[in-house]
Amino acid sequence: MEAVSRVLIGEDEIRARVGELGAQITRDYAGKSVILVGILRGAVVFLADLIRAIDTTVMIDFIAVSSYGKSTKSSGVVRIFKDLNESIEGENVIIVEDIIDSGLTLAYLVDLLQRRNPAELKVCSFLLKERERDHELSIDYVGFTIPDEFVIGYGLDYAGAYRNLPFVGVLAESAQPADE
Ligand code: IMP
Ligand code: MG
Repeated sequence: MEAVSRVLIGEDEIRARVGELGAQITRDYAGKSVILVGILRGAVVFLADLIRAIDTTVMIDFIAVSSYGKSTKSSGVVRIFKDLNESIEGENVIIVEDIIDSGLTLAYLVDLLQRRNPAELKVCSFLLKERERDHELSIDYVGFTIPDEFVIGYGLDYAGAYRNLPFVGVLAESAQPADE
């Protein structure tokens, strides 16, 4: 796969870590129910694996926000394209993200969902980039902390492509948007 300059996290490592996160969530929500809110589209692959590693009452819903488009830098502007289908009032909610970079997307979503009065609101991100941030983030579950590089695969895209790679790789500098 020439879009990737190197593999950062392989399939086996992902499977093992997602299993651990699922076990942790199962323990934390034993005897309770929880709604996983997947952030479309990047979190779809992670969420699909994560729910199957959870053994308590779990429901899913989705919210779609703006992405980077064909750039690899955050625009800082978050737009909602699709809202949740159900109310989260009085529910235990976990926001499921693919990756946290600047934290702008997450800060916006936490604020938005908190105003809907869930019983509890937590955050689970598959990846967390190691970098400086303007404001502090509160993340309850993290799959892997990675260096500050642009990555693709396991749901993460570059210009919409490469989400289907079963591993996480660093985007090659020579890579071009797949449809150009
Ligand atoms: P943030 O708002 O800067 O934290 O960016 C979060 C969103 O940007 C994620 O949900 C991803 O969709 C996208 N993103 C950030 N870093 C990467 C990356 O390395 N690869 C692919 N998408 C990324
Ligand atoms: Mg995303």
